[in-house]
Amino acid sequence: MKMPPVRTLCAPVAEWTAALATPAFVFDGAQVGVALEQFAALARRAGLKVLFSVKACALAPLLKLVAERVDGFSVSSWFESRLARSLLDDKGMVHLTSPGLDARELAAAQEYCTAITLNSLGQWQRLRGNLASGVQAGLRVNPQRSYAADARYDPCRPHSKLGVPLPALRVALERGALALDRLDGLHFHTHCEAESYLPLVETLAALEAALPEVFGRIRWLNLGGGYPAGAAHAGELAACLRALRQRHGLEVYMEPGKGIVGAAGSLVASVVDLFDSAGKAIAVLDTSVNHQPEVFEYGRVPPVLQAEPRGAFRYLLAGGTCLAGDLFGEYAFAEPLAIGSRITFTGVGAYSLAKAHRFNGHNLPDVYLRRADGTLQRVVHQDYGDYARLWGAD
Ligand SMILES: Cc1ncc(COP(=O)(O)O)c(C=O)c1O
Repeated sequence: MKMPPVRTLCAPVAEWTAALATPAFVFDGAQVGVALEQFAALARRAGLKVLFSVKACALAPLLKLVAERVDGFSVSSWFESRLARSLLDDKGMVHLTSPGLDARELAAAQEYCTAITLNSLGQWQRLRGNLASGVQAGLRVNPQRSYAADARYDPCRPHSKLGVPLPALRVALERGALALDRLDGLHFHTHCEAESYLPLVETLAALEAALPEVFGRIRWLNLGGGYPAGAAHAGELAACLRALRQRHGLEVYMEPGKGIVGAAGSLVASVVDLFDSAGKAIAVLDTSVNHQPEVFEYGRVPPVLQAEPRGAFRYLLAGGTCLAGDLFGEYAFAEPLAIGSRITFTGVGAYSLAKAHRFNGHNLPDVYLRRADGTLQRVVHQDYGDYARLWGAD
């Protein structure tokens, strides 16, 4: 499938953020629209339904835009399920799964959900009976096929807590320990930042071969997230899903997060100090890795819009907190940086807002949404009052 080039459809972020006070997270609604259109094309071609994974970015005005173009939301908690339902009204699916689900969380969440996927055989035995009649019951299976290079991102790592391991599921089925007539669907999620749909095709073939009686009974299959809309081999995925639906009459869901919002979010910062440290030029920013914790946790080096890989001026971009390792990495620029120079980290729309925190008492960045018509709106602004309330001040 030929995908439209992503960046060219959208106005350059540096232009429409030039006058903003920093630090600021900015989301480009047009860019989200491009990703949504790509997923819609894949959904039409493969006959699947798209649920946006709220954990990637729960920014309500953005979710409102997304809600118009997806079949529902996938969520991980009752807070997410309530937010999702409030934005969808009664129009879409809300599908929850979480290894941390207990009876109290399930009771609170289920009034907002259309389906709840239980993560282990223990959860199934304890909680299946608590599901209201209108909420479909799924089970998460762990296909034990690892694709992610970093074990911290690999749902199929050894001794994984995510889903019932396939061999254990087979044993449960053979012992009659899983009542198939009460199972509405199967869920799995095995990948992150995949470049090709082939792992999904292989996993589906392996699961169908291993669980014929389950595929013969269930009503839906949830393929999880981890795939951008433009991943390679979409044709193979579409053919595989069409055949699967013909054989078993299944509804198929996919729940992408990063693939929809990742490219649409940028973090705009400014240089607040410049100095030399033992022969390296340091540029301190008015943001920190606390606003993009994946930089610190996973050693991600986010692209910088203004960087020029062959540029003559190299800087170590540093966050402004006391943490020695609060560093974004080394970048080259065509011109020397100055106090006030803009630094725009791109591709940070997923897993940044939810994880950002206020270490050192630094405020969280403002959050802006640029709508497809070009209007720019500040949708979140926090101040000292929010900080003080967090710590129990009156
Ligand atoms: C169960 C499940 N579904 C969907 C997603 C979304 O994945 P991504 O944002 O990589 O598309 C995740 C991410 O962790 C997940 O755990």
